[in-house]
Amino acid sequence: MACIHIQGGYCLDGEIFVQGAKNAALPIMAAAVLNRGVTRLYRCPKIRDVEHMIRILENLGVKTRWEEDGLTLDAADIKTAAISALDAGTMRSSIILLGALLGRGQEVTMPYPGGCTIGARPIDWHIEALKKMNVQIDSKEEGLHCRTKGIIGTDMTLPYPSVGVTENVILAAVLAEGVTVVRGAAKEPEIADLCAFLNVAGAKIRGAGTDSICIEGVNSLHDTEYHIMPDRIAAGTYMAAAAAAGGSIVLRGIGIEPVQAVADVLAESGCGLIIYEESIKIIAPSLLLSVRNIETQPYPGFPTDMQSQMMACMCSAYGDCCMTEHIFENRYKAVPELVKMGADIRIEGRSAWIHGPCRMKGCHVLAKDLRGGAALVIAGLTADGETIIHGAMHIDRGYTDICGDLRQLGARIRRSMNDKYDIEG
Ligand code: UD1
Repeated sequence: MACIHIQGGYCLDGEIFVQGAKNAALPIMAAAVLNRGVTRLYRCPKIRDVEHMIRILENLGVKTRWEEDGLTLDAADIKTAAISALDAGTMRSSIILLGALLGRGQEVTMPYPGGCTIGARPIDWHIEALKKMNVQIDSKEEGLHCRTKGIIGTDMTLPYPSVGVTENVILAAVLAEGVTVVRGAAKEPEIADLCAFLNVAGAKIRGAGTDSICIEGVNSLHDTEYHIMPDRIAAGTYMAAAAAAGGSIVLRGIGIEPVQAVADVLAESGCGLIIYEESIKIIAPSLLLSVRNIETQPYPGFPTDMQSQMMACMCSAYGDCCMTEHIFENRYKAVPELVKMGADIRIEGRSAWIHGPCRMKGCHVLAKDLRGGAALVIAGLTADGETIIHGAMHIDRGYTDICGDLRQLGARIRRSMNDKYDIEG
């Protein structure tokens, strides 16, 4: 196991290029199985979740190859549509393969998916939506068995703008017979990116990025090259890190739109923002102020994937902040670790009250999930002395090189291997 060592108390200064988006790369990789040929993806982040998806795809028969930041996927031959328990257990996003594999073939078996332990994360809406598209699904103890004699387009309204369900329906609909209309769809930019990719490959999708998406089925897709969008959560993490640690940084390769909700919170807390077409400069104030209320919401609201990092940032701010998590229950796993470092945080139901500024002190902490781990990194940058974050593999799920990026910005941060930390410790 790897761990991350941070010597706190150093301002951030400099510029970095933002990695490609995890949450766009994963569904686009799943979409590659709809093309009986070659898909080449640029700016594909080399993160653990992408490596997991590669392994799952290879076990299905897809040939993959990395070249620099380009990933080539050759899905000419798929030998099975049975996903193994080991593969599905490692990553929740494997559920996305359901729509794509049903679009490609007629039968899929899949154990229930895993992923970050941030709540129950049911898959009932995925099942309901696919059933409406002429898929027969048996939910067994060991997993799902799905069959179709051919996906048929339909008009449906989602009970909630779920990102994964919207993507699954789109993926199932691309090669379907007829037209599918998804109302109440999620509007996340990663969905727009998935649809932009599919359209370049020959799909006919309109309305992506709005709450009503229309997919006209086509007979086949063709070989494609595509640049994945920048990762707004990685960018937001570094923006929050700069606000908390002090200094000023420039993020290259991303415009303001996908990070607007995070930028609004940081502007309210006193940060300066200079916005260019394809880069953002963030300047921390001498006195960071708390933002009274932050509530996670579907896009364009404040992202749940930034909740933990912003909480760590608010620990450095003056005043009281109330964060409310509306998307996932059980997403406060980093709180006990932040408290161990000196944070004054009280949780009541879905809300967390942060009373700042907190005098953070370096100590041994444990990352329990991806974004909670990133929050501990931010806290470590602001803490007195050394913070040692165990369970760094959670952070590796979503960041290509968080230590390298922050080192480039002047942080004293490094990785070490052979972590023998007692998990309960
Ligand atoms: C995606 C993102 C994740 C992000 C989340 C919300 C990827 C790979 N992951 O996850 O990083 O935090 O969107 O922005 O893109 N739900 C059900 N039943 C279902 C499906 C979902 O009850 O069948 C609930 C979930 O438990 C959750 C809410 O709906 O409470 C939102 O989940 P959803 O938008 O589906 O998130 P994911 O697609 O899993």
